[in-house]
Amino acid sequence: MAMKIAVLTGGGDCPGLNGAIKWVTKTALDPYLEAKRSVKFDVIGIKDGWKGLVEVDPDSPASLARHTLKLDEEIVRAWDRYGGTNLGTSRTNPFNPKKNQSAKVMENITRLGIDVIVAIGGEDTLGVASRLYRQGVKTVGIPKTIDGDLVGTDYSLGFDSAVNVIMEEIDRLRTTAGSHNRIFVVETMGRHAGWLALQGGECSGAYIILIPEHPFDMDRVCSLLLERRGREVQYSIIVVSEGATMTVHQEFCRDNKVDEFGHRSLGGIAAYIAQEIEAKTGQETRYVTLSHLQRGGSPSARDRLMARWFGIAAVDMIVNEDFGRMVSTRQGEITSVPMKEVLDRLNLVDVRKYYDVERYNGKRSIL
Ligand code: F6P
Repeated sequence: MAMKIAVLTGGGDCPGLNGAIKWVTKTALDPYLEAKRSVKFDVIGIKDGWKGLVEVDPDSPASLARHTLKLDEEIVRAWDRYGGTNLGTSRTNPFNPKKNQSAKVMENITRLGIDVIVAIGGEDTLGVASRLYRQGVKTVGIPKTIDGDLVGTDYSLGFDSAVNVIMEEIDRLRTTAGSHNRIFVVETMGRHAGWLALQGGECSGAYIILIPEHPFDMDRVCSLLLERRGREVQYSIIVVSEGATMTVHQEFCRDNKVDEFGHRSLGGIAAYIAQEIEAKTGQETRYVTLSHLQRGGSPSARDRLMARWFGIAAVDMIVNEDFGRMVSTRQGEITSVPMKEVLDRLNLVDVRKYYDVERYNGKRSIL
């Protein structure tokens, strides 16, 4: 009797998800490995993250078609080339106390005959997988978030592709900024972690980088800009993380909505900073909010590689009965960590190690 693996993608989508689904499927169904391991698998995709397991009715063929997809090597053959997730995703939280659908999820896992769940996601999605594991469900996690804020791993799927988008968009902005001698404020994603802004800003040569981990002073930003007055190049690029705050202000939110994991929609700080700079320095200033461009497009080479290695490792963990753990990479090696150890805190930028608090930019002394 084959062991049934269910794969799902939860939370924000990003390039690399489809590659991870592909390599879980290819590895589980690999005839060479099957012969060597004498373990036979079936693989199904669960659509729209945990929502699929809440809503599916295993006795209804129409519902099965709506919420699940039987996966095989032919179906996933080209998936690793494309961004997004072909299984769909959601921010559904079965343990949301307002709805508490976890019993329904447990029941559907049993009725679908699922033996193991591979959950590909960030701290929210993996938090659900960890709680299900504590309730007796065999789960394995694969780290994914463009924010780079998961502890326990040196890399999460999506981050590199997002940094490339930031770099490409800032390169594109430079021509118009230079033509008009304008200052451009570029808002990145990242929630409460500044990695995207810091590394996106560093690799594209931004003059100022503002991150949530170090509240900034607006007057300091303006004085740094005035220091550049008289230079030949009269434009400047400022990168600000959506979660950045000023010393006396709270974070900026797009609206008052809160998702099922308690997250608010951050956004709007770039517009505010642009307005303040223009008012205080008189320099023409515009802003760009990169928003979901950072989650779009095709996976970078690094995300394709990490998706492959994480997907293969997830099946190794199933064969080794290594459950309740997340695949991870440490100093270039693929390994795993207990999921419960990666969920109680975020991987934030260590300001002492990586950030220059005088120049509001990356550190200029590294060794
Ligand atoms: O966690 C990934 C992320 O892209 C954050 O950087 C961002 O704040 C959030 O998701 C946006 O969520 P949504 O796609 O639901 O608007």
